[in-house]
Amino acid sequence: MPVLSPYTWEILRYAQNDRKMENLVLYRKYRPKTFGEVIGQEHVVRTLINALALGKVAHAYLFCGPRGTGKTTVARLLAKSVNCENRPSTSLGVKKYEPCNKCAACIEINEGRAMDLIEIDAASNRGIDEIRELREGIKFSPTQLKYKVFIIDEVHMLTKEAFNALLKTLEEPPAHAIFILATTEIHKVPQTIISRCQRFDFHKLTLNKIVERLKLIAKEEGVKIDKGALELIALNADGAARDAESLLGQVMAMEDKDITLVEAQTILGTTDIGAVITMAGFLISKDVKNALGFINKLVEDGYELSQFAKSLINYWRKMMILASWKQDGEIAKMRELIAPELTDEQFKIILEQGQKLSGADFIKLIRLFIRAENETKGASLPQLPLELAVVEWAGSNEK
Ligand SMILES: Nc1ncnc2c1ncn2[C@@H]1O[C@H](COP(=O)(O)OP(=O)(O)OP(=O)(O)O)[C@@H](O)[C@H]1O
Ligand SMILES: [Mg+2]
Ligand SMILES: [Zn+2]
Repeated sequence: MPVLSPYTWEILRYAQNDRKMENLVLYRKYRPKTFGEVIGQEHVVRTLINALALGKVAHAYLFCGPRGTGKTTVARLLAKSVNCENRPSTSLGVKKYEPCNKCAACIEINEGRAMDLIEIDAASNRGIDEIRELREGIKFSPTQLKYKVFIIDEVHMLTKEAFNALLKTLEEPPAHAIFILATTEIHKVPQTIISRCQRFDFHKLTLNKIVERLKLIAKEEGVKIDKGALELIALNADGAARDAESLLGQVMAMEDKDITLVEAQTILGTTDIGAVITMAGFLISKDVKNALGFINKLVEDGYELSQFAKSLINYWRKMMILASWKQDGEIAKMRELIAPELTDEQFKIILEQGQKLSGADFIKLIRLFIRAENETKGASLPQLPLELAVVEWAGSNEK
């Protein structure tokens, strides 16, 4: 039996894991099989499908951005599309860009057993030896596919020596090789590597896009689930499709075929944004009676109050930042940056609410609720710190 190096073991481990998990986890089951299924990342997808259509695929790509936003997914799609045997070209020589998902190459890649698609986890293969081995291996032509595709995940984890070795390969890659480096921490990747790759920045996904996708998956799975519950899940995923899909999986595992917002809240142990907006409304109008009533209703409904306080503080922060941006174009940009999870309706409300508060108000509110949040954890009556914050805030401008 040949001696397998750690690097080869890693590849085997990867391939096996993938197949074993496939039926268990929604995000694996629903990994997009075509570019058309990828949500968001329009700029990345557009550039790649143009390159594919024109047959001008580069030899080294760098995909960076937050976790669970499609880097590995798009890397595999690219590997599949360049190797697909059924992509005919038009009379103008323009090729179709979508992989067929039917030919031998597509099927092998979908099933995670293509020998020429080599996925390396740099987090556990950090050293020079692995990269040296890769450099040796790369000289040989692909065994089955047209291109040998190397996906190096978490590439920022490589050691300095390994980066140098990789650099040499990237300088003169053989014609049959394509490198796709992926990272969540681009600032740790040396400039010399970055400059040899075509770089794509992946972004967090908006709440609406994630909700659309969850809706589709729930439908495929034959599960009925409230829009509010989907929004809550998407909110908790913080822009990552994978997190959203695994949260949906959790909720589906706990509940029946008909899932409501309250059930999702209980399972996820979180606050929905609706409650935060309502509370903010009471505070802005200094409606002490309703604010106190609302806090006690939250306790009755089983809310985790320190979580609620945290969400509220976060909401004030967003409101404060947005209130300082007046022009529409700028506000749209800020929205994408700090509040991509809000729906259009919620976004309208946060802007309106923000108009009613001054800079001094924001400071006061945020300070009061930070204190309340800290005190809530050890309090014998968990609602008391929040109640005090409400009363103190309501009395703050009285002459
Ligand atoms: N843009 C997207 N469109 C559709 N589904 C997505 C998208 N991004 C992620 N997903 C879903 O999340 C899963 C994981 O995504 P993927 O592995 O591509 O993330 P990643 O960016 O490589 O994350 P990591 O940095 O953690 O490796 C996919 O299988 C898919 O179900
Ligand atoms: Mg990945
Ligand atoms: Zn194919």
